[in-house]
Amino acid sequence: MRVSIIGTGYVGLTTGACLAFLGHQVTCVDSDQKKIASLQAGKIPIYEPHLTELLVEAKPNLQFCCDYGSAVPDAEVVFIAVGTPPSSDGSPDLQYLSAAAKGIGEHYTGDYVVVVNKSTVPIGSGNWVGSLVRESYEQRSGRKAEHRFSVASNPEFLREGTALHDSLYPDRVVIGADEVRALEVLYTLYRPILDQTFAAPPFLPRPEGLGAVPLISTELASAELIKYAANAFLALKISYINEIGQLAEKVGADIQHVAKGIGLDARIGTRFLQSGIGWGGSCFGKDTSALVATAAEYNLTMPIVSAAREINRRQRERVVDKLLGELKILKGRTVGLLGLAFKPNTDDLREAPAIDIARRLLERGCKVKVHDPVALHRFQEQHRDLAVVCCTTPEEVADDADALVLVTEWQQYRELDWEAMAGRMRSRIVLDGRNALDRARLLRFGFRYLGIAG
Ligand code: UDX
Repeated sequence: MRVSIIGTGYVGLTTGACLAFLGHQVTCVDSDQKKIASLQAGKIPIYEPHLTELLVEAKPNLQFCCDYGSAVPDAEVVFIAVGTPPSSDGSPDLQYLSAAAKGIGEHYTGDYVVVVNKSTVPIGSGNWVGSLVRESYEQRSGRKAEHRFSVASNPEFLREGTALHDSLYPDRVVIGADEVRALEVLYTLYRPILDQTFAAPPFLPRPEGLGAVPLISTELASAELIKYAANAFLALKISYINEIGQLAEKVGADIQHVAKGIGLDARIGTRFLQSGIGWGGSCFGKDTSALVATAAEYNLTMPIVSAAREINRRQRERVVDKLLGELKILKGRTVGLLGLAFKPNTDDLREAPAIDIARRLLERGCKVKVHDPVALHRFQEQHRDLAVVCCTTPEEVADDADALVLVTEWQQYRELDWEAMAGRMRSRIVLDGRNALDRARLLRFGFRYLGIAG
């Protein structure tokens, strides 16, 4: 099928690469000329494992351009995958979504196209996007849009760091539209994934035993709500284990054992019960906030979701409180942060706990040193306001540090020579913000080991 994708961020680029790999003819559009030029030259603007390899495989079916005129006129499906960043009042900024919808209407010339919202948009946006597309089509062509456009919602559940795996081997595919015709088009588009009929790339082998992927085909509003409800549930699962973790710490229980003990109940499940500093990233904070805001429009409160947000905020404060409890005075101390990205295997810094923690420590008069294996460069570009010392190795962070905080559980940090790290520090204090380090080993090297919970 002929597919266009508007927006080449994490979601757009991953979707484009996967669909082209499956044999569809894909054109990715982005208004950022620099980004498109580098994609055309085979350079990838984000860090996502295996994306480079998959783009090589997908290359014959994949084009990049800046103008809608080269991508939209005869497309059968157009995905909108633009950013919907939070604006100053917390509500999503829909200017890019609106521009994309208008651009589609202005440039489409065929008989029928399905416009798919892949960006996380407020519930009800499908109808709004539909009216923008139709209005701009009618204004430009002077003709009635009639049944030329359908709008569908196809929420994205990929996790950064495992985005390609999640896209090719999803737990489910959700498509929502109010017209059967649109659902049929998307069913055809996703058939190779639903039936798992494609030859798996060698670097992304199909999980053993994976059969057909379930399809949830529903109306527009349900698909839009599924996205929010899924992300909010995952966020509150993490906040729940972090709340239990605080009690575990008081009563002398080990939160990791508790998480395993409850998670092995199949009704609960072991995943997303990893306690620590809490969630960051572009989705959980934004989506839980939007869910609470949407509910408020209908005079509803969402106490469970609101509490999950509050607990997550508290986890970041706990880092500073714990360091204060240990070091007594923070002013003039040197604290090293290991990890900046909001999670391992990505260079994404959106809502990353490290930024918040660094800011709080600086406000307390600490000298803050930071390191990240892939996100350091991006951090230097985006956070010039933070007067921290950027280090190119974890060892440099350890030099003369009064305490180290593991903020992002990169594998590299688990495998560090912690004995050598100890030798470089002023005092051997490690706050393991992800409960990821080998406590017994650190104790052997004379560390004072602090967990974030339990
Ligand atoms: C999330 C959703 O998982 C995905 O389905 C959706 O499409 C986008 O948002 P992502 O933000 O990429 O994906 O990462 P995810 O792996 O979900 O982690 C989010 C945050 O939660 C990270 O900061 C991570 O460190 C934290 N986390 C995750 C925990 O603290 N504990 C856990 O058990 C799992």
